[in-house]
Amino acid sequence: MWQRWKRLKTGEKVLFGFVALLVVVAVQNYISIEVRRLSSANPVRPILTHYDFSGDGFHGSELFRKNNCSSCHRAIGNGTNMGLDLDGIGSRRDFKYLESFLRDPEGTYITRTVEHGMAPKSAAYVAQLPEKDRHDIAVFLSQLRADRGGAAARLPPVGKSGFIDAMLDMWVPDSWRIMFSDIRTKDDGADEAAKKGADGAAQGNHNDH
Ligand code: HEC
Repeated sequence: MWQRWKRLKTGEKVLFGFVALLVVVAVQNYISIEVRRLSSANPVRPILTHYDFSGDGFHGSELFRKNNCSSCHRAIGNGTNMGLDLDGIGSRRDFKYLESFLRDPEGTYITRTVEHGMAPKSAAYVAQLPEKDRHDIAVFLSQLRADRGGAAARLPPVGKSGFIDAMLDMWVPDSWRIMFSDIRTKDDGADEAAKKGADGAAQGNHNDH
């Protein structure tokens, strides 16, 4: 081994030495991140989405997998990030929007769609699914909720955030502080109302079947 190393040219030694150094640094970083993650009292990567499925919602989750939605989307930790991550979408969109999007994506989406819509778009088949299946999938999606502060949540984290305060100090003109109130000091009422609306709609339609 040592004989072989001695036979290498200087450039090769530098190159291999550098690669070996990179590997050592990467392994060291990985170990220190893992040690920090496992020994920290607060989760380093908190999970900010959650779900609590009704019967229709659970059926919708099965349809979601069966109909290949997870080849473009991610939900409850499954699937790909190629398209939109749908975890927490129920906190951003209500049941009515979701059902309408699945039925008529081009008439519902805020801008032009890429994949959903009419053939030959790759997700055109979604609008052709039976109405009951689309309904259950929409219930499922509306029950994917995000906690405050999560990427999909409408509201920022509860309490003080040094990062948000620093951003406000840097970018917000004083006049805005008079014109607008800080939503972090309000309660979560709006999100609760949206949730009730979503569940109420899901319940209403559920009774029709
Ligand atoms: C070929 C890839 C692909 C497949 C398959 C697919 N989607 Fe999508 N989906 C997208 C893309 C891309 C968007 C963004 C809108 C667009 O450009 O079409 C999207 C958007 C959405 C949205 C809208 C989100 C919003 O915020 O308005 C929902 C809901 C959704 N998809 C659900 C589904 C469901 C349910 C299925 C399966 C029945 C599915 N998708 C299958 C690619 C896909």
